[in-house]
Formats: sequence, C-alpha cells, structure tokens
Amino acid sequence: MPAKIIDGKQVAAEMRAELKTEVAKLQEQGITPGLGVILVGEDPASTSYVTAKEKACAEAGIYSDDNRLPADTTQEDLIAKVKEMNADPRIHGILVQLPLPKHIDEDAVISTIAPEKDVDGFTPGNVGRLVIGQECFMPCTPHGVVQLLARSGVEIGGSHVVVVGRSNIVGKPIANMLLQKKPNANATVTICHTGTRDMAAFTRQADILIVAAGRPNTVTADMMKPGAAVIDVGVNRIPDETKKRGYRLVGDVDFESVKETASLITPVPGGVGPMTITMLMVNTVESAKRHVQP
Ligand code: GUN
Repeated sequence: MPAKIIDGKQVAAEMRAELKTEVAKLQEQGITPGLGVILVGEDPASTSYVTAKEKACAEAGIYSDDNRLPADTTQEDLIAKVKEMNADPRIHGILVQLPLPKHIDEDAVISTIAPEKDVDGFTPGNVGRLVIGQECFMPCTPHGVVQLLARSGVEIGGSHVVVVGRSNIVGKPIANMLLQKKPNANATVTICHTGTRDMAAFTRQADILIVAAGRPNTVTADMMKPGAAVIDVGVNRIPDETKKRGYRLVGDVDFESVKETASLITPVPGGVGPMTITMLMVNTVESAKRHVQP
C-alpha cells in the first residue's frame, strides 16, 4: 500500500495558528516577540529561506529586524552586528543564516550569540544542554521533525531510528534529541554518514528513517524496511527547463520508489521545510515569554 504523505504545510499551519494566539497574549502584556535575522551574501537557497522566515514572522505578529549584508562583510563587522542584537531589547531571538562565506569562522560568530537569544540552538552551551537532556532551545529543523512524527501518531519510544547525515544543524541534534529518556524520544538511534560502510545494512533496520545527507537519491526503496516512516530533510535544486525558474526541488530520498514501500513519508517541498520556520517562531516566542517571566 502506498505511504501516507505527511503534510508539513498543514501541520505548520496548525502550529502557526496556535502561535498567533500566544503572540497576541504577549502583546497584551506590552511585549512583541522580535527576531533578528542576518544573511551574509546572496546564496539563492539561503535568500529564499530568509525571505520565507521574514514573511512568516510578519504573519504571526513577530517583529523581525532584517539585515542583508554583502558577501565581503568582515568577520569583525558581523560579530559587531551580533553583539548589537545581543544588546537590543526588541530582539528575543537571533538567527545568523548558515552557511557563512568561507572567509568567516562560523564557530566564532555563533559563539558570540547570547545564549538566551540562541533560538537556533547552535551555541556550544545550548548543544551541551541538549545532549545532557536539560531545558534548551531545540534546533529548528530537528524540532520540526519530532513534531511531524509525534503529530502523525508515529511511536518513537522503543523504535529504531536511523539518521543519515551527521551535520551540526540536523543529524547530530536529531540523534541526540531522540535518544533522550523522554516523551517523543527514547529511541534506539544509529547515525550513518559518508564514512559508513554498507549503509543499506543499517537503513534496512530502521523503523523511522531520517535522511539529511544533502544529496538526491541517497535512499532508494531497496534500502529500507517495508512499512518504515521516512522523513526527508533534503532540499536539492535540480535543473529543470520545464519549470519557469529553471529548476525543481527534490529531497534526499527517491520519493517515487520509497513512497510505495514506506508507511509514512514527507514530501519535498511541503514536508519538513515549513516546520523549520515554524519552530524558529516557536523558539522566538518562547524566548520572549522567558523575558517576561525569567
Ligand atoms: N541553514 C540551513 N538551515 C539553517 C537553520 O536552521 N538555521 C540557520 N541559522 N541556518 C540554516
């Protein structure tokens, strides 16, 4: 039987409606949640993410301070901008869009973000808290993946989750989140990466397969157990002259074959993507609430 397609847009719309009510309550108390956004350079994928984030914030009633800086911005100037946002009381969350141009040390910039405004959950202290199960900001894409699984009724506890990809943005945090002894977690977790020998031997064991490899067709139907839930985190642009913009988006999973074998699958676009932005707003609103009641 073909898989049920998880509608990320629908889940995101439900969560954004809930969020609007919370923003309205904060506004009654004189607080408008604020997000500071910094984009360096003009990478097309990053530009479209940032534009979508700003639009979603406006719709939710979140103030957004947009900063689009030239590709040759110095590390010093970027760090100065982050420090300015750290000190700005209108801003409760700071987002520095990654990747940064090669001449900038990403770790140095991320470490400058004030921990209480780290709504991306990327600062070393926040990552440490996540690993040891303390309260923290959950990185947005993994947080969105957990919400999609939970709201689709997927049993995570006791399942074998196989994560393909070990990035700091998705692979490492999702693995750590799902192995915690907590609700919507408590899974057995395996991480596969470019150094894994015979990846299919691992992916075939997955009850839940999370693919964040950054490469189309990383997982095909023959590499999975029938009935597994498949979450495709990839966003890849494939040249396509039949499209007006000259490309189409595909994930990391061979959707056409995998959808015939999986029990649940997220599409690209319209799966994980809308959830990432939603969780960023959830974290920003949470940060604003802590500002009212630390
Ligand atoms: N680049 C790709 N995903 C993300 C994200 O979640 N946050 C930031 N800051 N940059 C990204």
